Amino acid sequence: MEITKYPTHLAIIMDGNGRWAKKQGLLRAFGHEKGVQSVRQVVEYCVQHNIPYLTLYAFSTENWNRPALEVKALMDLLIKFLKKEADALHKNGVKLNVIGNLDKFPPKAKETLLATIDKLKHNTTTTLTLALSYGSREELATAIKHITTDIQAGNLTPEAITEATIQKYLYTHNLPDVDLLIRTSGEYRISNFLLWQIAYAELYFTDVLWPEFTKEHLQAAILNYQNRERRFGKTSEQLK
Ligand code: FPP
Repeated sequence: MEITKYPTHLAIIMDGNGRWAKKQGLLRAFGHEKGVQSVRQVVEYCVQHNIPYLTLYAFSTENWNRPALEVKALMDLLIKFLKKEADALHKNGVKLNVIGNLDKFPPKAKETLLATIDKLKHNTTTTLTLALSYGSREELATAIKHITTDIQAGNLTPEAITEATIQKYLYTHNLPDVDLLIRTSGEYRISNFLLWQIAYAELYFTDVLWPEFTKEHLQAAILNYQNRERRFGKTSEQLK
């Protein structure tokens, strides 16, 4: 079956790296390393099919609590990915964006990230957003802090606050709502990811572990998405 309807904003919770590594008798870090291949595949797919926004949950606020060695492996992998892939991303016209609280980030990782964002800033095919040190509740708390500061400074009144105002204060202020959210590895959770932004997203769960996730798996998810009826609170009849 042909795909005629692609999501504008695709978000993915990349899960199952650790279990994949365990299955192979390898350390967890190897699972993350293999997971980079799947990242490459989904980015390429989005470019090839003109999907304008791809957001990947790469490191949550809770992931800081993992063993120090694994956290370091993930940071090193991020630096390696950015350095190694920057040219290919550029050639594909990919723009890089980050959401999350980078205050805790090791300087080297932050530096590489900002330099890569700068290098790719004029690109216009797919915007790849990496959620790093990201947690939806932290994002909302930060937004509320900034809203309060603006009220105190006289730049905003409580009466003027609408849903659009809140959207403006989120890390994702420059991204549209999520249309399709995929989670791999057979877990049925949202894990503090884009809680505001997925209000009307279609959810797709697959048992495939992230390191084994390919373009074909993504194609199947989008095919499934295209056959869903998105009603946004209306009735089927109203949509006709
Ligand atoms: C979840 O699997 C995955 C992560 C916490 C990290 C995701 C990172 C990558 C895919 C590689 C790096 C990404 C980029 C963009 C360079 P898990 O470790 O929780 O797996 P488990 O549930 O099987 O233990």
